[in-house]
Amino acid sequence: MPYKTLQEKVFEIILDRNLNLDKQLTEICEVLKLKIDYYDWVGFYFANHEEKTLHLRAFAGEATDHTIIPFGKGICGQVALSNATFVVEDVSAQDNYIACNIHVKAEIVIPLFKDGINVGQIDIDSNTPNAFTKKDEAFLVWVNKQVAMIL
Ligand code: SME
Repeated sequence: MPYKTLQEKVFEIILDRNLNLDKQLTEICEVLKLKIDYYDWVGFYFANHEEKTLHLRAFAGEATDHTIIPFGKGICGQVALSNATFVVEDVSAQDNYIACNIHVKAEIVIPLFKDGINVGQIDIDSNTPNAFTKKDEAFLVWVNKQVAMIL
């Protein structure tokens, strides 16, 4: 599916007033996983800045044990502190990585900003090595901007 069509689909979910936030986030995860074949797990984590932890709020793909991640731990935890996108071509080459599933080869984590504050992130795992390109990055930054509007 071309990104433009996918953008339209995400936008429809964002505008759907019949859905609550959790359902909207889940539907976004589901449509991304369904329409992009190398997106094997898609999730949104949100930060608790007092506790310095990330909490899984919505996902599509296999359930993970890692529903709470301390800031600094794993790729997600590092992004909570760095405020920067983290693209991992090969997860086996990372020292500070939390494995959710043995099939995962690559990961991308993009911070989600609301009013300039890093409030969470979208996290995508792929079973394909070196799966993510600048196009994915640009698309996912756009997705996070849409999500920020409904937070
Ligand atoms: N791999 C992530 C943990 C979350 S799972 O991918 C669902 C990390 O290293 O932070």
